Amino acid sequence: MKPHKILVKRKKNFDLNYQKNKFVLFIGEGNKLDDEVPLHSHMAAFIKKFISKKAFKNKALNNSVMLDNPITLDPDYILIIRTKSLIEDKELYDFGKIIRKFRGEDNISIIWSIDKPFTSTARTIQLRSYVFDSLKSKKNSRKKSAETIFFVNEKFKYSKSDLLKNDALAEGVFLCRDLVNYPANILNTNQFEKELKKLNKVGIKVTILNEKDIKAIGMNLLFAVGKGSENPSKVVVLEWHGGKKGVGPTALVGKGVVFDSGGLSLKSSSGMVDMAMDMAGAAVVAGVLKSAALADVKQNLVGIIGLVENMPGPNALRPGDIIKSLKGDLIQVNNTDAEGRLLLGDLLWYSQLKFKPKKIFDFATLTGAIIIALGKEYAGVFSNNDKFCNEFLSVCDKANEKVWRLPMDKKFSDALSSNVADMTNVAGSQGSSIIAAMFLNNFVKKEIPWIHLDIAGVSKNTETVFSKSGATAWGVVSLFEYFQEFS
Ligand code: BES
Ligand code: ZN
Ligand code: ZN
Repeated sequence: MKPHKILVKRKKNFDLNYQKNKFVLFIGEGNKLDDEVPLHSHMAAFIKKFISKKAFKNKALNNSVMLDNPITLDPDYILIIRTKSLIEDKELYDFGKIIRKFRGEDNISIIWSIDKPFTSTARTIQLRSYVFDSLKSKKNSRKKSAETIFFVNEKFKYSKSDLLKNDALAEGVFLCRDLVNYPANILNTNQFEKELKKLNKVGIKVTILNEKDIKAIGMNLLFAVGKGSENPSKVVVLEWHGGKKGVGPTALVGKGVVFDSGGLSLKSSSGMVDMAMDMAGAAVVAGVLKSAALADVKQNLVGIIGLVENMPGPNALRPGDIIKSLKGDLIQVNNTDAEGRLLLGDLLWYSQLKFKPKKIFDFATLTGAIIIALGKEYAGVFSNNDKFCNEFLSVCDKANEKVWRLPMDKKFSDALSSNVADMTNVAGSQGSSIIAAMFLNNFVKKEIPWIHLDIAGVSKNTETVFSKSGATAWGVVSLFEYFQEFS
């Protein structure tokens, strides 16, 4: 779906027909209508009358009550939101809930008089307007919000370039969500490749490695994961050259398991049902690259995406098989359902061999255990570099994507030792998200700052500031902001 437009119109005397139009009015502290609000006098009188009512006053005493229960004048028409705590307490989460009311609705009119969180408000509305209905034969009869108009007075200052950045971001977020929302019979590895090839239209160089290339290079772990499936495995490389020539890129590595049945270590029915989203890491990488290209980010980025399907079958990888990684280590695969770390191991090593990156991020719906640890609220972050990690955490905080750092400790990797090979891929259930991270750590050179994001809990079916249901695109906003702030 295409993101809808956010427009800003200047108006002296706002005279919306409040009987017919939906609109949102933000009012300042003390329920006073700010003189800055560009309202026509009779409309102002109507609203003043309403906010002087007792019921409104009582509710308005408590900001949080107000935010949880926005005042609706006339159920369908007018929503009044106080702004003070939004600005001062950064309660964008609540704000996102309010904006949700308008998800998928007609055009929205907003009368705006406060400049502070303007672009972030615009962003929330834009990202919240996403609807996934391309697979419904009967489309939503309501018009999707084609545009949101902010009516502002003549003195109002805002940054047009920030709004354009929001548009670029929304394109990447919506791409990511579409990819995650498609089921595996539609978005198989071939279809995913096709979608990624389209990114050349925004200036991204797209290179495809097919199974022959993958074998020739020696990415045997990745190949082993996909060999039980009829759908061919692929590695897709996305290059964005926005920075200086010769400066090493930031690598973004993504887990793109288009369906994770578990392989011969088959998952249970309930554990398998949503496993078409096991490519969310790859979708985040695609989304970030698209947004960065559209915003003309002045950095060199390389996305490295592994597309495989993890299936049982006569050619499938067996529990106990020993496979030689691209790095050269021999890996004993004791559980074929711990497949993400296998393909990521090869992709991480490949990214360092081929692109000499300054930094590496990887995104993966890697472990169910991260959902046990952090629920569906926080993504897990692991890093070998405190400075890099702290920079990233501060960006996530500002961007309103929740993330929590977990430790990496050599003790955990001891559990991965194998009697017959160099390493196994699993080691019991204790601390298993950390063990997975330690497995990956084996494929990252010590001197390269690296962040691993386990997004198994936050990628789908959880509410965030920016999304209500389905795919969230968790990570695209933070990465986009990271590239604006840090090089
Ligand atoms: N794709 C799953 C992790 C997952 C679980 C993602 C739930 C999203 C929601 C991953 O490949 C997996 O199966 N991990 C196993 C590892 C175990 C065998 C060590 C897990 O978490 O159970
Ligand atoms: Zn798995
Ligand atoms: Zn998986």
